[in-house]
Amino acid sequence: LAEESLRPRSLQDYIGQQELKDVLHIAIEAAKARQEPLDHLLLYGPPGLGKTTIALILAAEMGVNCKVTSAPALERPRDIVGLLVNLQAGDILFIDEIHRLSRMTEELLYPAMEDFYLDLTVGKQQTARTRRLKLNRFTLVGATTRAGALTSPLRDRFGLVQRLRFYHPEELQQIVQRGAALLQTPITPEAALEIGRRSRGTPRIALRLLKRVRDYADVKHGGTISLEVATAALELFNVDPAGLDWSDRRLLSLMIESYQGGPVGIETLAAATGEDVQTIEEVYEPYLLQMGYLQRTPRGRVATPRAWQHLGYTPPENQLPLL
Ligand code: ADE
Repeated sequence: LAEESLRPRSLQDYIGQQELKDVLHIAIEAAKARQEPLDHLLLYGPPGLGKTTIALILAAEMGVNCKVTSAPALERPRDIVGLLVNLQAGDILFIDEIHRLSRMTEELLYPAMEDFYLDLTVGKQQTARTRRLKLNRFTLVGATTRAGALTSPLRDRFGLVQRLRFYHPEELQQIVQRGAALLQTPITPEAALEIGRRSRGTPRIALRLLKRVRDYADVKHGGTISLEVATAALELFNVDPAGLDWSDRRLLSLMIESYQGGPVGIETLAAATGEDVQTIEEVYEPYLLQMGYLQRTPRGRVATPRAWQHLGYTPPENQLPLL
């Protein structure tokens, strides 16, 4: 079974993000009653929390098509033009990583979002003129890991701006149980909760771990995922009890071993780990911040006493005040 088929198809089946679901439910009902497309929606938050899934659910609930793309695939202006002119009335266009749009593409989007037309330049130099092209009314769903990275003219054109939060272990437990049922894998509630606890608050990770644990259970234990099996498998895959994986732990131990816990600049961390700054900021840090293992200070990143303890180090007695 592919990842696709584990995605919930309706708001009803979507576990967690209650506040977001409440807002979307109202928007859907109102738009349907008025027979209008949904307002443009900006979803932001760490990767793997369900932004694409939400766009697909919105399309299903509205009974329209959803075209899925991402900013890096829209480098040339003609890429976005091609997508927009092919949208039918009410369709959803989902653009992932929308903070990475090229400037020309972004500027084409402004009138498209606001008044549903495109101004295209046809011909060259002296004979160039603009032609206005009417579009069907559509809904843009943009996704980004950082709302702050959007230009304000783009951000201001979204009627709805919603954040996705990390999931609680109990929500991830339900998601794992739902996934296991779809995969026809028996799992105990305790095992599902353990996978949930170790998934960094992220459904994509929970479902990935479920599949790895299922392989382990199939090979070693004839299929059923018990707490013991899940724990042994997760240990084997290097996922610790707090859900930190090898990269998380390497980042923190580097800060502790080479920089006495910090503060250390993000560029230094990037160079020392071979990751890029964006990946550290958008993939690793959000969960470490949320768990209280890491702090951002004006002078750089600091590993907290909690991180020292978690990794088996003794935190220094007289750590300087953090701010
Ligand atoms: N699969 C992935 N994310 C999910 C969610 N939020 N609810 C139900 N199933 C999911």
